Amino acid sequence: MRPITRRNALILGGVGAVGIGIGGTGLWLARDTSSPIPSQTDVGLELTEPPELRSSNGALSVALEAAAGPVTIAGSTVTALSYNGGLPGPTLRIHAGDTLSVNLRNDLTDPSNLHTHGLHVSPKDNSDNAFVTVPAGGSFDYRYELPANHPPGVYWYHPHHHGSVTDQVFGGLYGAIIVEDPVPIPTARERVLVISDITVSSAGTIPAATRMERMSGREGELVLVNGQLRPALSSRPGERERWRVVNACVSRYLRLRLDGQQLTLLGIDSGRFASPRSVDEIVLAPGNRADLLVTAIAGTSELESLPYNRGTSGGMMGGMRGGGSAKAATIPLATVTVTGDAVADAAAVPQQALPRDLRGVTVTAKRELVFSMGMGGMGGGMMSPTINGRTFDPNRVDETVEFGSVEEWLLTNTSTLDHPVHLHVWPMQIVERGGQALPDVLWQDVVNVPAQSTTRVRIAFDDFRGRTVYHCHILDHEDAGMMGVVEAP
Ligand code: C2O
Ligand code: CU
Ligand code: CU
Repeated sequence: MRPITRRNALILGGVGAVGIGIGGTGLWLARDTSSPIPSQTDVGLELTEPPELRSSNGALSVALEAAAGPVTIAGSTVTALSYNGGLPGPTLRIHAGDTLSVNLRNDLTDPSNLHTHGLHVSPKDNSDNAFVTVPAGGSFDYRYELPANHPPGVYWYHPHHHGSVTDQVFGGLYGAIIVEDPVPIPTARERVLVISDITVSSAGTIPAATRMERMSGREGELVLVNGQLRPALSSRPGERERWRVVNACVSRYLRLRLDGQQLTLLGIDSGRFASPRSVDEIVLAPGNRADLLVTAIAGTSELESLPYNRGTSGGMMGGMRGGGSAKAATIPLATVTVTGDAVADAAAVPQQALPRDLRGVTVTAKRELVFSMGMGGMGGGMMSPTINGRTFDPNRVDETVEFGSVEEWLLTNTSTLDHPVHLHVWPMQIVERGGQALPDVLWQDVVNVPAQSTTRVRIAFDDFRGRTVYHCHILDHEDAGMMGVVEAP
């Protein structure tokens, strides 16, 4: 007979699946505790960050090996996917004008490739080419040349092989890319926070998604920060930190709050605001990033993700709430403790470059992209995500745009679920939401289009010719075909 430890006691109390409330704030771990899976005892460890690789003399050359294997998630050993054995993969720190070279080794059992999400680089050849296939066991040399005026900000990398993107990202393949500021902002420290979600089975593996999960977009049971469950951060009163936050979740929206601390948002994605904005809450759709200043105020605060209603998917089974009702709780992500002697006020934030504004320019073409969940596909009787009634075909060019022109795209969502719309290579300026013109200049590369609404964006097809894709960044929808091809010949 084994001695009754706390873990065993939980098994006795819960018949396999145990709901463990953490700190009364509602993060649950519903699982069989007999296996090497995350538990509440892992909570509260000091935040760790992925290894950082920095460019020097205008170049960064890295090797990324994608493989399945044991990784540490929330303090437990789990069989997941990772780049170079860590989850998240290394953070790449580069500058405008740099050349980034990546040797990608695919040691997975499926084809893969690499996408540098948000980077304004060529979509051709061995640059950010979404059509590359790196077969299992193969490797590929990517080379990305950033223009000298590339916007600073938070970007990220992840696989983009159509059909297996969600499994590979959900499995653990993602990492941050930081394009440094030309004039650094004085801060006490920088932190990279890659937020992802994952589900771990009782066997310590990641279960396959159900058909319903693929339709709504799967959300993991655990929400991790740099692969940790609810890590601890500490600072001193008055210290200003720079937080680079990536929503690497495949479907989950993050509605972030850090009550008690002072938040100043520099921008979302590559879209730096004209001046920093004081905020209480930041909503990041899947794929979005936040570039944030946190000024520490004495006390303890919880970084939380509040419930976000991204709609319901209709269908045969009477509809399923995006994420499911059990997940409509506030999730504690990290604990920030601010103690000690106060430090002097941080120096002023340097003036940011004024963002470009396409609202006054001549538009060459207007298009409408209609995102819908039609019947059919996905295995009979299920809703099938489409754009303009079609699913992705890599051999069809859906939209041919004129190189150097400015276009206006009306993004129409006819479905009952939100779709976060993403375009590679060229960022989008949001000019109208739900028929209302925006008062400010706002640039993003993932633009959420709420259920049954429209959003109007303008895009400057500058600097690069070639073919690339736009798609829903609910990656289950992308894999199901909610993706199109755009070409600037
Ligand atoms: Cu973050 Cu086409 O992807
Ligand atoms: Cu992308
Ligand atoms: Cu979608």
